[in-house]
This record gives sequence, structure tokens and C-alpha cells, in this order.
Amino acid sequence: MDHLELHALKQWFSGYCRSFYTPEPADQKNILLKEEHTARVIVNMAEIAGRLGLNEHARSVAEVIALFHDVGRFPQYHQYRTFRDSLSVNHATLGARVLTEQDVLRGLSVSDRELVLRAVSLHNVFSLPAQLDEETLLFVKMIRDADKLDIWRVFIGYYELPGKDRPNAAGLGLPDTPDYSTSVLDSLGKGEMVHLTSLRTLNDFKLLQLAWIFDLNFARSLELVRERSYVDRLSSTLPGTPEIAAAVKTVREYVDRKICVR
Ligand SMILES: [Fe+2]
Repeated sequence: MDHLELHALKQWFSGYCRSFYTPEPADQKNILLKEEHTARVIVNMAEIAGRLGLNEHARSVAEVIALFHDVGRFPQYHQYRTFRDSLSVNHATLGARVLTEQDVLRGLSVSDRELVLRAVSLHNVFSLPAQLDEETLLFVKMIRDADKLDIWRVFIGYYELPGKDRPNAAGLGLPDTPDYSTSVLDSLGKGEMVHLTSLRTLNDFKLLQLAWIFDLNFARSLELVRERSYVDRLSSTLPGTPEIAAAVKTVREYVDRKICVR
């Protein structure tokens, strides 16, 4: 894949985003949010790929995966006016379908094309299927890290806004009360991922997002978490109870340990 091809794919993506632009301000804001998210995921992906020392071709494939990982968000929002997959469609599967139906990846080799489609499809699964080939696994792990790194930016930005300025789509519609669930906190304390189905409050969702740290795959990702103070910023929006402080400490120690070991 040469620079011209990569440029053409970026042009296609810009045009595709623009085709969903609307004069309705709230909807336009949501479309632009995903377009900006994509741009930042591309930067995160390049950070991770650079640290891994990937060759130029692999770095281009990584960029294409980042560019298209959320392409399904646009038709999803257009049709359902939500980004919640549970209320609409699986946006990753939809994205892979858009790329296939519009033959967007026709300029890529068959193996690159299939790799991109697999990575897009798997970027949001709760846990990865067993027996993925080594190459797919590498790129899927990269996009999952790059994506989470930007989702933290978006959500922490929302949580730091005064309640009245916060878009209500930011918290999955969960009640923003001082409560949180012991079961969710226990999972976090044990270093386990939390299922969306176990959430009752917005604080539970924040705890779930803290637990994502245990799912990161690369040292560079953990460094970016630390450089951007995501753990501190996220935890400062949580209730200051001793048990939350203890769980947050576990997370912070995990980040420090992983950066040292790798
Ligand atoms: Fe996504």
C-alpha cells in the first residue's frame, strides 16, 4: 500500500463523514465527535506502532484500521440516533459491512483487506476469540488500545463538565447519583473487566472504564494513560470513599508495575 492509496482512503473517509453532516446541531455534534475520535485514534495507533518498531507497510495497515474502526458509527447514528449498540446494531460489524459493500478496500492486497476487516469487526468485542492468527491478534490488540485511549479522553472530558453542560448520551443514560455497586467495585479491585450488563449507576460505568486499564496490551498504551493522568482524572470524578480509593490505588499500582516490567 503506497502513500497515494492511503491518501485515497482518507479522502473516502472524509467524504463519507461529510455525507452524514446535518443542519441539526445536536446530531452534527455527534457526527463530528466520531470524526474527531477517529483522528485521535489514528494518532494513538501510530504511537503504539512506532514503539513496536513496525515496518512502513504494517504502520500503513495500522493506520487504515484506525481510520475505519468506527466507520459503522455514522450509519448507526443516522439510522438509530444512538451510539449504543445494545439499542441499535453492532457498529463494528456494520462498519465491516460498509467497507465490503462499497468496496472501499479494493486497492489493498487480499490479505491486507481481510486483515483490516477482521480488526474492524473485532475492535469492540468483550473478549477476543481464541485461535486468532498472530498477525490479526497484533493489529486487533493495537486498535483496542488506541480506541480505549481516546474513549477515556472523550468521557473524562464529559465528566469534568458541570452536570448541566453534560450531553446526556455521555453516561449510557445511567443515573448520576452518588451510588455505586459493590460487585463492580469488587471486580475492579480484583483486576477483572466489568460487564456492561452489571451497571446500575454512572459511577459503575466510571469503574468499568477504570477496569479497561487491565485490558491494555502494550507498554506504550500504559505510558499514555499515565502521561494523560487518566486514572487520577477519572477517579477524581468518583465518590471519595475509602473503598474506592483502595481500588483506584490497585489500578495505579498496576499501571506503574506494567510500565516497569515491559
Ligand atoms: Fe468502536
